[in-house]
Amino acid sequence: MTKRARKPGPVAVVTGAGRGIGRGIVIELAREGFDVAGIDIVFEPRNTKKGLFEVKNTVEALGRRFLPLGGDVADIGAHELMLDAVEGEFGRLDVLVNNAGVAPAKRRDILGTTAESWDRLMSVNARGAFFLTQKAARRMIGRREAGNGAPPCIVFITSISAVVSSTARAEYCVSKAALSMAATLFAHALAPLGIGVYEIRPGIIATDMTAGVKGKYDRLIAHGLVPQGRWGQPEDVGRAVAALAKGAFAFSTGAVIEVSGGMNIRRL
Ligand SMILES: NC(=O)c1ccc[n+]([C@@H]2O[C@H](COP(=O)([O-])OP(=O)(O)OC[C@H]3O[C@@H](n4cnc5c(N)ncnc54)[C@H](O)[C@@H]3O)[C@@H](O)[C@H]2O)c1
Repeated sequence: MTKRARKPGPVAVVTGAGRGIGRGIVIELAREGFDVAGIDIVFEPRNTKKGLFEVKNTVEALGRRFLPLGGDVADIGAHELMLDAVEGEFGRLDVLVNNAGVAPAKRRDILGTTAESWDRLMSVNARGAFFLTQKAARRMIGRREAGNGAPPCIVFITSISAVVSSTARAEYCVSKAALSMAATLFAHALAPLGIGVYEIRPGIIATDMTAGVKGKYDRLIAHGLVPQGRWGQPEDVGRAVAALAKGAFAFSTGAVIEVSGGMNIRRL
């Protein structure tokens, strides 16, 4: 008996998809019926225990398709090729999730922030996401004009650091504040064209990025930093992205959603 062909789903592109929050986003999108292309700077086809090829196996076990793509979002000259690969594989592009991001290699007080670390973070976290969005949006607009498919959407994974000061990683906060404004600008520009743009601000999420400061945040959480009293998990962010991608917030473009266990609540 031949295997029944799966119905093609809407297609999402997720950057930084090989681990952590990006991986969580991919899996929740797959659970909701999306086929996904995952871009990551780490591309190891022989490693199926972690990274893009583990994610591929997990997505396929959920009955969806996954295209692993090696690439650096800061390499803006490669963006069109990345998007060509997605459209070549799936024939469409419905959702872009700008998740790839980096933290400073070393935390330094603001009086010691280096230009090198500043440039690295701005280049990946803000510049890369801005220009990838610009190129994806042009393609989405073309598809809208041709009358193809459901309304597309774009999600930016910023951080509470877009608005919360951490003086030991100023360049990270500035890069996320810049990304937050990019989300607002694209939301404004793309609203009349039928493309929803959203910002998700994660709080403290358990991933490799935060593994090195786990002890510090364990203590702060135990002392009440997070009203909901726990670490966030990648799937907390993934479920929020999936709701946006499925159109649950279709009349809310430009919305900022915190996934931080209530850290947005000003407390006395
Ligand atoms: N973990 C948190 O507490 C937290 C909180 C708020 C916001 N965020 C943001 O969420 C996003 C994901 O964070 P995470 O905790 O999963 O980080 P992570 O370091 O665990 O994973 C990031 C992934 O992105 C990939 N990546 C890094 N630079 C890239 C590049 N230039 N091009 C393509 N891929 C690249 C990495 O290889 C990795 O797979 C980041 O933008 C981060 O700033 C994280």
